[in-house]
Amino acid sequence: MTSADPQKIRTALRQQLLCDRMLGVREVPIRLGLTPPPASCVNGGATATASNSAEIAEKADRLRVLDDTQVKGCTKCGLSTGRTQTVFGQGDPNARLVFVGEAPGYEEDKTGQAFVGRAGQLLTKMILAMGLSRDEVFICNVLKCRPPNNRDPSADEILSCSPYLRDQLRIIRPEVMVALGAPAAKTLLNTTQSIGKLRGRFHDYELGGPLEDEDTVPLMPTYHPAYLLRSPGEKAKAWEDLKMVMAKLGLVAPGR
Ligand code: URA
Repeated sequence: MTSADPQKIRTALRQQLLCDRMLGVREVPIRLGLTPPPASCVNGGATATASNSAEIAEKADRLRVLDDTQVKGCTKCGLSTGRTQTVFGQGDPNARLVFVGEAPGYEEDKTGQAFVGRAGQLLTKMILAMGLSRDEVFICNVLKCRPPNNRDPSADEILSCSPYLRDQLRIIRPEVMVALGAPAAKTLLNTTQSIGKLRGRFHDYELGGPLEDEDTVPLMPTYHPAYLLRSPGEKAKAWEDLKMVMAKLGLVAPGR
């Protein structure tokens, strides 16, 4: 490995601290994501779901096939007629942590990438504040197509599209999931409870599988970054939720 450039480290540290400050974060996680992860961290641990490169490559391939053969050409609901393109989601196919949002917005529909608009930029800061990078996690949505004028997804649209999300999660088999906002939390947990009631504790997401095995993944519902942009006073609660996720993954935030 080549030795790190101190100037680059200083710049990265400064960016990290700026992100933290903008998020209202007053604590700094031990691992800042500047170095390759040690064995106990996000993708290097023996507990990662796939432990060898052949398994990881297989996951990447299965995700690609799902996207290429089912999602990209999907016409199961009316949203297919208004989209520029589908937005499958992106990140590490072997991620220990998956973020699930609601649906692509304008920027996502144009670029084909999940969470790249204003809400996505805040999500990036939240991920950095956890000491991670977007490349180390997987980011996707319940819906793969943009609803017109970013309206809420309908029950029928969620019903048509959520099998793709279920299949993505079965392939990745993350250790922890974060549902961003009410539609994601309600869909994944099959509940009508409000996000305010659901957030702040882990729930069991039933991963299931071909044999309907009993696998569950701890899922933390939290506020959607778009809501946090409108209600910055709620950021501290979202950070509390993310700190619980960090603890579950063994990423410890020291006290002030
Ligand atoms: N909001 C979402 O829920 N998902 C995106 O990808 C962008 C904005």
